[in-house]
Amino acid sequence: MDHTGESEKGAYPTVHPLKIFDLAKSQGRFLYACAPMVRYSKLAFRQTVHHYNTDLCWTPMILAKEFNRNQFARDSDLTIATDGAQPVTIVQFGANKPLELARASSMVAPFVSGVDLNCGCPQSWACAETLGAALMEQRELVRDMLVETRARLRRDGWAVEREASADSPRGRSVSVKIRVHKDLRRTMDFVATVLGDAASGSCNVDWLTIHPRTRSTPSSTPIDVEALEILADKFGRDVPILVSGDVFTLATLPYTSHLLDPAPTFTSSGSADAAAKKPSIPNLRGLMSARALLANPALFAGHGTCPWEAVDVFLERLARAPLPLKLGVHHLTEMTGPGYGPDKRALLTKKERVRLTACANWIDVLDTLAELRAGKEEAAR
Ligand SMILES: Cc1cc2nc3c(=O)[nH]c(=O)nc-3n(C[C@H](O)[C@H](O)[C@H](O)COP(=O)(O)O)c2cc1C
Repeated sequence: MDHTGESEKGAYPTVHPLKIFDLAKSQGRFLYACAPMVRYSKLAFRQTVHHYNTDLCWTPMILAKEFNRNQFARDSDLTIATDGAQPVTIVQFGANKPLELARASSMVAPFVSGVDLNCGCPQSWACAETLGAALMEQRELVRDMLVETRARLRRDGWAVEREASADSPRGRSVSVKIRVHKDLRRTMDFVATVLGDAASGSCNVDWLTIHPRTRSTPSSTPIDVEALEILADKFGRDVPILVSGDVFTLATLPYTSHLLDPAPTFTSSGSADAAAKKPSIPNLRGLMSARALLANPALFAGHGTCPWEAVDVFLERLARAPLPLKLGVHHLTEMTGPGYGPDKRALLTKKERVRLTACANWIDVLDTLAELRAGKEEAAR
């Protein structure tokens, strides 16, 4: 594990994610989360979205087996801030053995707020190793991994008794991110098994993130709102539920909720009809965004498109928590390109973004950005 910043002081988070769920609810809004994104949801990006109101930030999926065995894997896969600018962080692991997940979780627990198990990655290499979405066919194994992880964290002295641990500075969360099956009854069985006996208070997870697409649904196909509605109705009273998928703007969500405040307003009767058709999902507690946050880290602060200031915040964070050039430039091309909301204005044209990708070093990148931005500002005068 790599630490940025100068001191260890304050490295240990003191806010339990369940407290943040409660805070968001008391403010009459959804909890806002940055999705796990392999390659992209690294520290500088997490700090940037956190600056713009994102409450909870996931790391990219980290392979527990490698993390447990290899110091280089630990140093390159997880960077945390030790100088106070640490967002509330959830480490996501890819694992298929209880012992591996428990060990890796034990190692990161001092530095982050919680651990999460990836049961959603559809990539063939992951599924071939019974990781990610392949785990949706292994509900007992998933339950066992979560149970063993909780037991290990408890033995290590962390507080993992769900709500009872939320006030403890040693409170840590255990959660899972899932996809759905074509036959939703199988997802219901999966969730019931994984949660355990929620009614008696011995639930195995603190919350559930649902990506309502099947393993083979492309991300261009809209999420299955009906599946989300059914799952939230069935399990949303036992555990908080976050939705991942198609969170592009708060005004264009394909469902409504009392936590969407102020509710989007509609002026034409056609829009009102469309709103009336949207189901209300009262038991949904949070929104997780991946692609739209990549393009606009200021999304949850109400910006319809990425502002230049967000680019500045990212570059400033990047100076303290560096990324490889190509990766950093990819972030910049995402942020300066058109986003996922209805407003398709972009900070730079495609041709200008191509110029960024041709830069050979960070000095070139910064000079090119400054030149292009000055040109825009001049043209706007
Ligand atoms: C570049 C990229 C990397 C991703 N990596 C992960 C990952 O490491 N773990 C995971 O559970 N999901 C991962 N996902 C899936 C997202 O977390 C999210 O569930 C999915 O993209 C749907 O959300 P969206 O419509 O907001 O993009 C990734 C998605 C993208 C675009």
